[in-house]
Amino acid sequence: MIARMRAFVFRYFVIFCIAFASCKETPRQEVRRLPDGLLLGTATAAYQVEGAWNEDGKTENIYDYLTHTNTCYATDCGNGDVAANSYHMYKRDVEMMRELGIDFYRFSLSWNRLLPTSFPDKINQAGVDYYNNLINEMLKYNIEPVVTLFHWDLPQKLQQLGGWTNPHVVDWFGDYVKVAFELFGDRVKYWITINEPHQVCYYGYGTEMLAPALNLTGEADYLCAKNLLLAHARAYHIYDQEFRPKQDGMIFITINTEWYEPASDSDDDVEAANDLIQFRWGQYAHPIYSKSGDFPDVMKKRIGELSEKQGFLRSRLPEMSQEEIDYVRGTSDLFGLNHYSTYFSYRNVSTEQYYSQILGPSFNSDSGALTYQLPEWRIGESPITMYVPWGFYNLLTYIRNEYDNIPVFITENGMATHGGLIDNDRVTYYRGYMSAMLDAIEEGSNIMGYTAWSLMDNFEWLRGYTERFGIYEIDFEDPARPRTPRKSAYVYKEIVRSRTIDMNYEPDMSIPMTIDA
Ligand code: NOJ
Repeated sequence: MIARMRAFVFRYFVIFCIAFASCKETPRQEVRRLPDGLLLGTATAAYQVEGAWNEDGKTENIYDYLTHTNTCYATDCGNGDVAANSYHMYKRDVEMMRELGIDFYRFSLSWNRLLPTSFPDKINQAGVDYYNNLINEMLKYNIEPVVTLFHWDLPQKLQQLGGWTNPHVVDWFGDYVKVAFELFGDRVKYWITINEPHQVCYYGYGTEMLAPALNLTGEADYLCAKNLLLAHARAYHIYDQEFRPKQDGMIFITINTEWYEPASDSDDDVEAANDLIQFRWGQYAHPIYSKSGDFPDVMKKRIGELSEKQGFLRSRLPEMSQEEIDYVRGTSDLFGLNHYSTYFSYRNVSTEQYYSQILGPSFNSDSGALTYQLPEWRIGESPITMYVPWGFYNLLTYIRNEYDNIPVFITENGMATHGGLIDNDRVTYYRGYMSAMLDAIEEGSNIMGYTAWSLMDNFEWLRGYTERFGIYEIDFEDPARPRTPRKSAYVYKEIVRSRTIDMNYEPDMSIPMTIDA
């Protein structure tokens, strides 16, 4: 039945694409020029690469705690204790950036490395030195630091106090980011407050997939969402009022925006796709970027109605007061966007029933929509990688229309393999997605930067070291953690150098990667 439906949908999709040319097949040209001024870079995050989990005064964060208490949390029972060892190898990391010739590097700060008590009563000088060294080494070679203040590794102590469900987290986060602006803001001009809020709240509080693995869906995930939005806004206002006048940088949030395409043109499916956009990322984009602010109407309505039916005395989605709505609205200089995948979305009469029978009150029964991906989208050996560049194009077009063509900084895009230096699938992926981005730019999308995730292999959360996102390969068996450029690194270097995407460029990998003058 499902297979028949998929086949039907796929046929329908192809006809739809031919008729309306809305699902662009990319790449469509052999050599494409990138616009002048488009920034190109790569990214990582502290817990995924730094290692040195308890060195030089750093204390425990929620991933240290989770991976040490549930030693096989990750598929391969791995953890970030050593990871890529970037804490000790930052000079080699910067050398890789220089080999690639990139304009910027996005990395995150470890809250526990800077503030071992979680609060600003004690600043850890060794942590400050590490980030100063990294930033200064990058700036020496004109590589711009793009710094994420929070990439998932909350101090465990704050988690014991409720983490993102405790409204005091707004103060805690504000105090922490103030220290970061004071320490590094003279040199850091791009600040990202929080990485992927939906992933933090839904996967961390609603499921067990990310730390703190609370599995309290339909409740904790919504409490987290509201506090996180307020904490983000606090960081924005602190920067805007106290630091921007002298430091003159930009500050924004990064939202993971997957694309949801209706599985058919039935009202139900179109509504399902729209609801998923609102539930999965509009929950954060709408309060910040829309003119009216607040959580999306569809969330307020559905969660309110379902909560009442379920016997709750108030909506499980906490209300935002007008003052809070105003405090959050407009608090991002750019749209920071991570993108990996596309889903077909549909709804049938039993969807809501289906979810509530299995799960009771939950985020999924609240959104009441289902998704699937087509097997033909799969590229490479990793089950989590789908190649759907037209979805990226549709997403960027949607954001241009929905949010008044706000400047977009693509802060992550990339795909996983299971290792190996000849990563042709990743090369195809990058060319296809960058080309889809160019289609959107040519039609007016205001895109200022593109970031390949990731500079190097790293700890991929629940999937440990089994999924490799790096354009540099790391041998995690070797204590020296050697880094070797993959084919995709050679290709990305050529894109950066020539400012063009050449679909046919074949690098000579027998020539070692060097730093161009
Ligand atoms: C998004 C997250 O920000 C990053 O930490 C993760 O490794 C990539 N997606 C790939 O899953």
